[in-house]
Amino acid sequence: MPLSLAIKTLLKRTLSDSQRRTLKYLPAKLLWSRDLPRLARWFGTDKEGGHHYTQHYQRHFAPLRRKPLNLLEIGIGGDSSPQRGGQSLRMWKAYFPQARIFGVDIYDKSCHEEPRIKTFRGDQVDAKFLRGLVRQIGTPDIIIDDGSHRNEHVIATFHILFPLLGPNGIYVIEDLQTSYWTQDVGDGWDGSTDLAAPHTSMNFLKSLVDGLNYEEFVADDYTPTYFDRHIVAVHFYHNLVFIYKGLNNEGSNLLGKRFQLDDESSHALHPQTLTSDFAGTVRHPSPPS
Ligand SMILES: C[S@@+](CC[C@H](N)C(=O)[O-])C[C@H]1O[C@@H](n2cnc3c(N)ncnc32)[C@H](O)[C@@H]1O
Repeated sequence: MPLSLAIKTLLKRTLSDSQRRTLKYLPAKLLWSRDLPRLARWFGTDKEGGHHYTQHYQRHFAPLRRKPLNLLEIGIGGDSSPQRGGQSLRMWKAYFPQARIFGVDIYDKSCHEEPRIKTFRGDQVDAKFLRGLVRQIGTPDIIIDDGSHRNEHVIATFHILFPLLGPNGIYVIEDLQTSYWTQDVGDGWDGSTDLAAPHTSMNFLKSLVDGLNYEEFVADDYTPTYFDRHIVAVHFYHNLVFIYKGLNNEGSNLLGKRFQLDDESSHALHPQTLTSDFAGTVRHPSPPS
């Protein structure tokens, strides 16, 4: 038996679950607490290696690292195997030392729960389940969709969860390649070879980019959507997008402020009480046990 495997087996036999957990987090904490690509490799998520997402995550998330955030990720990993998965939840826990990490999966992943990590079993397109979950955990500051990657799911989940995201929150969607993938690539993919196909995630997201500039639309009868009014930036990378929430009401340099939108009307649109704000005070419920 190789030495590393022998050591692993010995530790498994002699240490308790919580001692093993502490040992797993120790090098991450001591050596790479700010280095997301290293943390991803250490915990074994394909956010690095299979994909190259962590360089972008690090750029966007570094200023938030020490904030007491609520991070919600759809897709815990390992599909139907209850023991597999959880790698990204552990990576986020190591990277954000004060955050509460919540994971959702269609399969039971409760064996990955530990202090500051809580899991929920449910479907990412089940609006009742998702709303109940947000009521329970409090307003999420970061939402990551790494679930089924089916286009119709990605779009439906965004419609449900984006309005529930905190006022200056960040919504991330991974694996946008499925916009271009059809049954030819694999059973179940619902993308299209037509780059303008209206049902793909990428085309939905492209429409949000126009929405950033809704105040320049000259049609008199245009009514801004919730997304027009509450998205202030959209950053695309290879197969990945970061969508920033905020009040999009700067006004046009030439057309002025034609659309009424103040804080109050924005909050009225928000379907639940807002509790957190990166820019201001952050109020959190107590951590999950
Ligand atoms: C790519 S894995 C997540 C990987 C993990 N986030 C990581 O980075 O290590 C996708 C997960 O989404 C889950 N999933 C698939 N369809 C889902 C759905 N409709 N609702 C919730 N979770 C779903 C799968 O069971 C699988 O565990």
